Amino acid sequence: MKKTKDAFNNSKIKVPFVSPDITREDKAAINKALRSSLLTDGPTLQKFEQAFSKYTGSKYAIGVSNATSALELSLVALNIKQGDEVIVPDMTFVATASAVLHCSATPVLADVEEETMNISTESIKRNLSSKTKAIIPVHFAGQICNIKEIKKIASANNLFVIEDCAHALGTKLDSKHVGTFGDTGCFSFYPTKNFTTIEGGMIITNSKKISDYVHRARNHGIIKSLQERFIKGKPWDYDVHDAGFNYRLDEIRSALGLTQMKRLDKMNLMRKNASKYYDSQLRNIQGIVTPSLSHDKENSFHLYVIKIKPEYGISRDRLFEKLTESGIRTSVHYKPLQMFSIFRKKAKWYEKPKTSRKLYEEIISLPMFSSITQKEQDLVINCIKNNQK
Ligand SMILES: Cc1ncc(COP(=O)(O)O)c(C=O)c1O
Repeated sequence: MKKTKDAFNNSKIKVPFVSPDITREDKAAINKALRSSLLTDGPTLQKFEQAFSKYTGSKYAIGVSNATSALELSLVALNIKQGDEVIVPDMTFVATASAVLHCSATPVLADVEEETMNISTESIKRNLSSKTKAIIPVHFAGQICNIKEIKKIASANNLFVIEDCAHALGTKLDSKHVGTFGDTGCFSFYPTKNFTTIEGGMIITNSKKISDYVHRARNHGIIKSLQERFIKGKPWDYDVHDAGFNYRLDEIRSALGLTQMKRLDKMNLMRKNASKYYDSQLRNIQGIVTPSLSHDKENSFHLYVIKIKPEYGISRDRLFEKLTESGIRTSVHYKPLQMFSIFRKKAKWYEKPKTSRKLYEEIISLPMFSSITQKEQDLVINCIKNNQK
């Protein structure tokens, strides 16, 4: 059966916002994993974790159910608890801050930089207090944040750094992969991401203590793996050291992750080329600001976010409508956290983030996925060109 272009079955859609890249090899790997009698906590997960730790250059990689559980497990492993404050960017997906609330700690919303939309280090400094315990920077859209300065602030103030790398698989600075700068790095394999296991995530760390904790905690706190319990001795004879979770990554998802990993660099290169093409066609349109992405740097090119300035002649919302009428799906990343009821109640700031609030009125994310064609991009580009007033 031929797949429609649109996930929501709108036959008028000509260009989807994202389109996961699932190949015949992926499907064969899933089928093979399904034939195994061990469907979770098995050898395919271990292989996926080894491949991931090799790719990112981290000592340990632990597969988990998604990036939200990776963030939560990182915070619990670092003993973040009630009364503690954790600085997060105001411009991120809600999960970055929800994970902090799950530990009964308080997210503190820092502002972002106008140009890159990454967390502002000046705003981090202005949001420090005697209760601050950690910073969760997000490598927004796949572009590395000012991680060196963030590390400096963290070491001067005795803080942990948990990198939210949900957008940034493949992003490096001087050949060092994101997620290896902080105490942990948390990755998402949700279908909109650069590669997918449908649902799924990974924590990387160089700390044995954190890795041991996460291994146990993702599986109810049980100190032995399923294989250890059944191969050696009595399956029920295990101990539980911590109140754990069920945040496991199963064998089917791990099999998909392994085959997707083989194509990751190629898929990221295709995104990079698509990003270059958008740049070349959009950069000279009055009132359109293309992303400040460096094509020389190793970047995952996860999102392509443009800013619509008054000189363009119509608002961001009007452009969104025009693009939708032309069969093009777009979105906004993100509505700032300060605008959500839960974070107005439970988060705080020492200085209200203003840049993120202003950017929210201007930004729109254009279709971006590895297999996007130039024909599809031209539809987007022409619609933007034709609607300028
Ligand atoms: C920046 C960011 N952090 C965390 C997450 C949560 O990822 P997951 O859906 O795998 O829990 C996402 C997912 O969209 C994200 O974009």
